[in-house]
Amino acid sequence: MENIVIDVCDLKKVYGEQTVLQDIDIGFEEGSCTGIVGNNGSGKTVLFKCICGFVKPTEGYVKVNGKIIGKEVDFIEDAGIIIETPGFINSLSGLKNLEMLAALNDKIGREEIIATLETVGLREAMNKKVKNYSLGMRQRLGIAQAIMERPGILILDEPFNGLDKIGVVEMRGIIKDMNKNGTTIIISSHNNEDIKELCGRVIELDGGMIKNDTQYK
Ligand SMILES: Nc1ncnc2c1ncn2[C@@H]1O[C@H](COP(=O)(O)OP(=O)(O)OP(=O)(O)O)[C@@H](O)[C@H]1O
Ligand SMILES: [Mg+2]
Repeated sequence: MENIVIDVCDLKKVYGEQTVLQDIDIGFEEGSCTGIVGNNGSGKTVLFKCICGFVKPTEGYVKVNGKIIGKEVDFIEDAGIIIETPGFINSLSGLKNLEMLAALNDKIGREEIIATLETVGLREAMNKKVKNYSLGMRQRLGIAQAIMERPGILILDEPFNGLDKIGVVEMRGIIKDMNKNGTTIIISSHNNEDIKELCGRVIELDGGMIKNDTQYK
């Protein structure tokens, strides 16, 4: 058995009368890329938020690198995250936004940020204000934000939203490279092609429960 980096144990989440996740037990192996699929409202985003520590489980827990989220650490560590639409400060440039985010961890400097912007195809537009970015450009900036510190974990909730065909192919390539270099990835997408291309394992949620869990490679 490979090393389990993210361990979701007996997770349950209830909002009011509604149980949105239950009996969720998943171990994510180091260096794996796992797709989370399922219909609208099946619980993907809530699961991602529990893994990151943005939502507190009603029962059960999530352990990342041996630490229980919300107990031993507040939030997931060493992770790049995209959940729904990434939020940026519109009046600042893409570069400035990333510089401010990078300052929080103080792990990387301007050079690495610019190299990442180059990777996602935003080098030319990096000094433009984010309010003048197209939807796809914002999404690329979101991907840049998630990968810029070369995290050991990537949590990507529909990272290809709003990207054109070329953008999807380019961003898939970037994510594949990160995975090849050992990053553990969890990704959701409504596009089967994305999931087939990237994921060695696919977990389907249905009404907040695991319906299928298939290992392909
Ligand atoms: N803060 C909240 N309060 C109450 N209910 C919530 C909250 N967040 C999510 N839910 C409910 O949890 C269920 C699962 O939502 P979730 O966003 O995880 O679905 P999803 O699988 O990500 O769907 P989509 O494919 O549309 O992104 C939905 O019924 C949703 O209404
Ligand atoms: Mg969602």
